Amino acid sequence: MSIKVTKVTKAKLSLKEKLDFFPAVASIVIAYIYALLTGLRRTERQAKSLSLHLGYAVFRKATTRLTTTQMQYILPPSHKIYEQHSKKTGRLPESVELGDGALGHWVGDRNADNVLVWFHGGGFGLPANMGYFKFYAQLLRDLKASGKSVAVFSLTYTLAPIAVYPTQLRQAVNCLRYILSQPNRDPSTVFLGGDSAGGNLVGGVLSHLAHPHAEIDSLPLHSNLGGAVMIAPWTLLEKNFPGIEIYHGGDIITTAVAGPWSAAYIGAGKRDYYTDLSTAPADWFTTFPVNSVLITAGGNEIMLPLIQDFAAKFKEGFENVELFVGYRECHVAPIYHLELGNTTKTEQGKKVEAVLAELMV
Ligand SMILES: *[C@@H]1O[C@H](CO)[C@@H](O)[C@H](O)[C@H]1NC(C)=O
Repeated sequence: MSIKVTKVTKAKLSLKEKLDFFPAVASIVIAYIYALLTGLRRTERQAKSLSLHLGYAVFRKATTRLTTTQMQYILPPSHKIYEQHSKKTGRLPESVELGDGALGHWVGDRNADNVLVWFHGGGFGLPANMGYFKFYAQLLRDLKASGKSVAVFSLTYTLAPIAVYPTQLRQAVNCLRYILSQPNRDPSTVFLGGDSAGGNLVGGVLSHLAHPHAEIDSLPLHSNLGGAVMIAPWTLLEKNFPGIEIYHGGDIITTAVAGPWSAAYIGAGKRDYYTDLSTAPADWFTTFPVNSVLITAGGNEIMLPLIQDFAAKFKEGFENVELFVGYRECHVAPIYHLELGNTTKTEQGKKVEAVLAELMV
């Protein structure tokens, strides 16, 4: 079965952007060689292994050097990656059109006792890579071993700047609405998860449930959601970080992407508590209808201070929130390490699994 996609449009490139691929690829190759030559001996602030170090360097250079439109042009869209993964694992792809151009993809048995709704990251501009689907599969396998029956429902939202805020937030809310509308699906068996920009959407959806957004239909719940997981949530869409010394060498992103990615998502609109949850007052969090929230970050990621600050604010207004930091790990390591082919479980990944195992029925 192949998926009919009506509204997901493909990025268009100017000739200049196409020609620019040649020097861009050359600069990525140079970054790789440089990382290889300088990475044999690494400090605590850099990756745990040489191959991870090289993988970090390549992603860092690619995202800094290429525009999101260029990245969207070369990367297969999320639903294609899902189809490839389904084929590889011998499962029939099962996708749902959620309206508005959004798709939801089932991984695992949709009738499982628990559903984990996942919003992928990538600055709102990059599609989900294979690392996501490997991450879901690993999580399902290991939760099953702990006696938990769970399926993942992964949202494919419209990438920025093809659509801008609040489209992606509306799609995320409608994704949850779809899951909650399934017969016998109690909110306590539904979990939200997301990483980076997807973590932003988790915060946006929880915000909407507690304080309905003016441009999105409300979604009243009769009881709390089972839990939420935010891996390195991007909840402060600042473009500049003046006066702060930032070391990028142990991470997969640089501060250079903050401006373009944030501008593409916000478009002509305005930032608010739904886009920038770090700026919300403590009592904004108090009525979030969720039993428990886990926030994780990598010890070497450039966003660590922002995530620590966010978690502290969250905690002021909402008791059941925990921050976990994975030693020497990069931004979204549980997913990106799998994308790089490293299947050793990250500390963050283990924590996510342990917390979900405890919260799930
Ligand atoms: C895979 O990642 C782990 C950290 O999660 C690291 O310790 C290990 O050395 C890596 N393996 C390779 C082959 O790079």
